Amino acid sequence: MSGPMEPGLDVVDIQAYYGQAILAIRGVSLRVDHGSIVALLGANGAGKTTTLKAISNLLGSERGALSRGTITWGGDAVDRLSPSELVAKGVVQVLEGRHCFPQLTIEENILSGGFLRRPSRRQMAADLEQIYAWFPRLKEKRKTKAGLTSGGEQQMTAIGRALMTRPKLMLLDEPSMGLAPIIVQEIFEIIRMLNQRSGVSFLIAEQNATLALRYADHGYVLETGRVVASGTAAELAARDDVKEFYLGGSRDQANDRRGRPTRATA
Ligand SMILES: Nc1ncnc2c1ncn2[C@@H]1O[C@H](COP(=O)(O)OP(=O)(O)O)[C@@H](O)[C@H]1O
Ligand SMILES: [Mg+2]
Repeated sequence: MSGPMEPGLDVVDIQAYYGQAILAIRGVSLRVDHGSIVALLGANGAGKTTTLKAISNLLGSERGALSRGTITWGGDAVDRLSPSELVAKGVVQVLEGRHCFPQLTIEENILSGGFLRRPSRRQMAADLEQIYAWFPRLKEKRKTKAGLTSGGEQQMTAIGRALMTRPKLMLLDEPSMGLAPIIVQEIFEIIRMLNQRSGVSFLIAEQNATLALRYADHGYVLETGRVVASGTAAELAARDDVKEFYLGGSRDQANDRRGRPTRATA
């Protein structure tokens, strides 16, 4: 078990580029303690995805790279680990946009997350049952091709697949994107339950700050690649500047942060 004194994820002053010229994040520092839920907030383009991909070492596939700073997990530097080595150390990422295999069934999608660990069949079956207990909706749809299920079910499937790796920390990129509010709430309730019952920590990138701060312990607000505010969720939710810019303020609540009408595809 991880004691409260054992260090979790520690990101110190990271800077990342795409190509030669695009400086996407410039000196981001953040921490995720074991057992906590941390929200990474900010508008579209602020650098949330880049930060998560930097942590998982996924920037290379987009011709991006870390050019400064350190990332440690449990006190060990992880900047040079491959995504699968990081998974073996308990850190898993669920990418933006869910990324299920549309031609595979829900169950096949979930199981695909388990193979990384090379578990026995019995272990795999037990883990699958546990995931169905957490996501009863997925059990009902287990034989359905993922491409034929709703956005909410696909997001749950992506989380379920990540859970098959038995993570200690899950990096979640915009779980609410494009989903109806009721489904988003269901997903955040599951996140809270996983956090409380299994002790999984979460770093959640979200444009929907109001929602994320309702479930998070701590938050960081990014703006053009920098952390411009941080604190406990309660502190951030109470700050007028944060409220005005990120929590809806006077803006139309029916629109997302990109100013488009919110799509509801649950
Ligand atoms: N693959 C990429 N190639 C070049 N620039 C990118 C790429 N991905 C993101 N960016 C740029 O990096 C900045 C941060 O983007 P991103 O991390 O995706 O922000 P967020 O997730 O907060 O919307 C933006 O200016 C964006 O245009
Ligand atoms: Mg993003």
